[in-house]
Amino acid sequence: MAIRTIFEFPAPVLRQQARPITVFDERLIELITDMTETMYDAPGIGLAAPQIGESIQLIVVDVAKIEKEQKVLAMINPRIIGHEGTQVDEEGCLSVIELTANVKRHKKVTVSYQNLSGEPREITAEDRFAVVLQHEIDHLHGILFLDHLSALKRALYKKKVQKMLAEKKGE
Ligand code: NI
Repeated sequence: MAIRTIFEFPAPVLRQQARPITVFDERLIELITDMTETMYDAPGIGLAAPQIGESIQLIVVDVAKIEKEQKVLAMINPRIIGHEGTQVDEEGCLSVIELTANVKRHKKVTVSYQNLSGEPREITAEDRFAVVLQHEIDHLHGILFLDHLSALKRALYKKKVQKMLAEKKGE
């Protein structure tokens, strides 16, 4: 088990289309363990494999009903197969530091995925849980919550990051 480095915007891996997973082995389980540990350490409520530099279709989400309890759902090759309604909720991302913003999403989603053994599963989620699933699945397609904001907000954030990186370099 290991806590992995979280890649931050503008890292290229965050913009790649992640590969589907076809091998369900020990290595995959290790990766899921690392992602879970990294997510709770951050702390976050969801993490996608590209965020730790692995461009594969894997996400972990915190599904604990009670605060401080730890219960993780690992979803392999997840895909939104149905949706209903809309909602607006505030989002942030471990890879998009120092930014939170309201994002419009589906209110309810049905997601198909595979479990650790490669068996097909389906889940229907709404409200906050549906937001997390949509946010994490976006990561597998190189999309960040930033991309759902206005062009102006996006440009302002890019400028801010460039400034932060320049300052870091100058230190
Ligand atoms: Ni994110």
